[in-house]
Amino acid sequence: MNIALLGHGTIGSGVYELINLNKGKFSGNFTDIENRRSSPVITKVLERDASKDLGDTVGKVVTDPKEILEDDSIGLVVALMGGMDFEYEMIKACLKAKKHVVTANKAVISEYFQELLNLAEENGVVLRYEASVGGGIPIIGSLKEEMKINRVTEIKGILNGTTNFILSKMTEEGADFADTLALAQSIGFAEADPTADVEGYDVSRKLSILSSMAYESIIRDEDVYKRGMTDVRAVDIEMTGSLGYTIKYLGHSILEENDLYTTVEPVLFKEASIMSNVNSEFNIISITGDIIGELQFYGKGAGKDATANAVVGDVLYILNMDADRKPESLRLGRNLNKAGTSIFKGKYYLRANLVKQEDLDRVLAAVETVADRKTVIVNEDKVFVVTSVIAADRFNEMTELLQKEVPEIFYARIYE
Ligand code: NDP
Ligand code: HSE
Repeated sequence: MNIALLGHGTIGSGVYELINLNKGKFSGNFTDIENRRSSPVITKVLERDASKDLGDTVGKVVTDPKEILEDDSIGLVVALMGGMDFEYEMIKACLKAKKHVVTANKAVISEYFQELLNLAEENGVVLRYEASVGGGIPIIGSLKEEMKINRVTEIKGILNGTTNFILSKMTEEGADFADTLALAQSIGFAEADPTADVEGYDVSRKLSILSSMAYESIIRDEDVYKRGMTDVRAVDIEMTGSLGYTIKYLGHSILEENDLYTTVEPVLFKEASIMSNVNSEFNIISITGDIIGELQFYGKGAGKDATANAVVGDVLYILNMDADRKPESLRLGRNLNKAGTSIFKGKYYLRANLVKQEDLDRVLAAVETVADRKTVIVNEDKVFVVTSVIAADRFNEMTELLQKEVPEIFYARIYE
């Protein structure tokens, strides 16, 4: 079976190196003594630029998708272009052409999960998406395994490498937000449009995929409450650090009976906690099952080699499948009540910049409508408040109103 690759960018080039350029042990899987199969190779790569150099003469760059869709020697397509519409159309067309598909595209998987799984099943082929969540961390396969025994009730984690890289550099080196985002883009951690990373869409897509699988229901990006992390400033890192906390960007979902609670937001963890010590592009994902309890998975959540490793793991799974394999199907039909954020509670840290004389009174009065003020520090043109414990939805509502009067604020729940 020949392989085609859609997109030879950061991850695509990593996959190409593993399969065609003999980096790693991929080809060794096909040269055992009893079963002398030759190692499958990528024969065609779809790119916009026909002159792209692949580093060998086995693969050919093509710019017309038909060259892949109509090539019967290609049985497996690895979709790594990113974006939404074109990749979705290509994945559909490949499945309809009875080609197995492996992708890392969480935008497409989270939006069209059920449709694509159905299409694969109808056409007797397999869709694999291990790298769509957690980069190199084998979370999709592990979750499937745990679900054979457990009812999963909670998923939480640091699910985005770019934002964790930014927050780590700001915390450890006092680095600037914009400079660090540019660095994450140049290394290849960030999405083509990094708004998805910093405004929470990437995390909410990953949380949607895991939650859909775990809670056996279609949960979409738009079902997830999300708040970006672009309002974090150096002064917040300093102040929360002096209070003994580290700022992290967390995705969290909880299932209680039929009620689903979700949130993606900046959160403060105690400095000594495991979460606070997950740095750079590393991710951590915790799943809780009724039998196993809490399990944590840690590893590189973004980047070329780690993600390519997960993609090629899926490729190997397909290449090693028995011919009489039964299709893997997920149950996604459960009807859940999307119950918002009210289950999440905690003390809050809030920083507001004071522009007008009356801003200090406004901020303190607004906070007092929902919570007690435990700590108030006024420092030149800024006020920092730590509150008593309050439900997330009440605090979020209060800050929405406050922001109309005092535009520059940052706040984060303290995770106890
Ligand atoms: P890149 O932008 O680095 O690579 C995408 C490649 O696809 C580029 O070479 C691009 O060419 C090509 N491409 C895009 N659109 C088309 C098109 N319409 N026709 C032909 N070629 C096209 O992305 P990444 O490798 O970083 O990401 C790929 C996928 O993997 C995404 O879905 C991403 O979310 C996911 N992912 C990425 C991770 C990472 O760490 N980077 C980790 C986990 C998942 P051109 O340059 O001309 O646009
Ligand atoms: N942009 C994503 C991240 C890539 O930074 O986590 C991995 O999914």
